[in-house]
Amino acid sequence: MNSIWNSAQKLKFDEMGADIKTDVLIIGGGMCGILCAYMLNDAGVDCVLVEASEICSGTTGKTTAKITLQHGLIYSKIIDKYGTDAAQLYYHSQRSAFDKMCALASKIDDDFNWCDSFVYSLNDRTVIEREIGAMQKIGCDATFTRKTELPFDIAGAVKVKNQAQFHPIKFINAIASNLKIYENTKVLEFGGNYVKTNRGKIYAKKIIVATHFPLFNKHGAYFAKMYQHRSYVLALKNAQKISGMYVDEDKKGLSFRGYNNLLLLGGGSHRTGKKGGNWQELKIVADKYYPHAHEVAKWATQDCMTLDDMPYIGRYSKTTPNLYVATGFNKWGMTSSMLSAMMLRDMICERENEYTKLYSPSRSVLHMQLAINLFETTKNLFTFTKPRCPHLGCALKYNKQERSWDCPCHGSRFDSDGKLLDNPATDDIVLD
Ligand code: FES
Repeated sequence: MNSIWNSAQKLKFDEMGADIKTDVLIIGGGMCGILCAYMLNDAGVDCVLVEASEICSGTTGKTTAKITLQHGLIYSKIIDKYGTDAAQLYYHSQRSAFDKMCALASKIDDDFNWCDSFVYSLNDRTVIEREIGAMQKIGCDATFTRKTELPFDIAGAVKVKNQAQFHPIKFINAIASNLKIYENTKVLEFGGNYVKTNRGKIYAKKIIVATHFPLFNKHGAYFAKMYQHRSYVLALKNAQKISGMYVDEDKKGLSFRGYNNLLLLGGGSHRTGKKGGNWQELKIVADKYYPHAHEVAKWATQDCMTLDDMPYIGRYSKTTPNLYVATGFNKWGMTSSMLSAMMLRDMICERENEYTKLYSPSRSVLHMQLAINLFETTKNLFTFTKPRCPHLGCALKYNKQERSWDCPCHGSRFDSDGKLLDNPATDDIVLD
């Protein structure tokens, strides 16, 4: 179940040896945390990053590694919810992150390459046309097409040229070697201007939480504002060669990209703790369209989803002025990680940043998804089965495909021995 990226040799870092002091502490050693450390270090800020296990052991090692401005049908959604100006700001913010990411990756990752990106719909041409209209309105070059490399017909696709794909671990290896990083150093408690870890205390003037799902429950109400989604990938040999990147506009649809001689087929998605297509669905697709292909790797990943499809980047809550967060990338973590690093660097260095309001974690929560999240949590809190999730006490569900115990409330996961796989829970569970 290892991804093809994780077979690359990763940098190793020591654990923390004694109490330390730093200006900025970053918690979480994935793409986002490491980019924050990279950008702060570049700005001359003293910073330290701690990771509970090994760097890139979470979502970063399991991404499909697409660098694109196309985030599903985000531009028409933002126009509907917040208006054209907000969509334009979103576009400009992601564009600056995209440019920075590509400029960096193209120099240091020999697997980086430019390609076209497509968001397609199987049977709804209208949503595609609306998205193209929205993108054109805000100055983003997008065109309609039905010509793709997909093995089936579609109603239409939004095509954006000159997007990119890369190798996340090669990229991280190149940027992380000069950073102050401690692995196997797990944060246990937040104390204001310090955190307690399993290796001692860290005193910091400012703290960034980049732990995928935010770590501290007491502030920010992230347990109400987010849920998690699982999706699955098969790496296929002897399948058709694909040069573009494709994703269905439907959250439960398929995605396609190539890597060397492999096709990466994604999909089978579902809310964590719920039933879904898993790898089984992908195997059926592979047998149907690529009967001569064989599987060389498979893996699953988990994404944090917000109430309005936009990330939370900025102050963790209104009452914690020196605590920052970057989370909720809604499956589009590559540009959003870079954007988080640029925005948080500016906030910490007290520089003006025009995107802080748009991505504020304290923005309105009045969206339909909030009611769905609260319903799921209430239902699972009042389901009287065992085992229970140590995060907030919901009933865990057994995931047969992955042999894990998954929480439908906020997405914590545990292996069949009770060992923690995914946060926001921070501890293992004891199984009877
Ligand atoms: Fe929150 Fe399980 S993840 S209760």
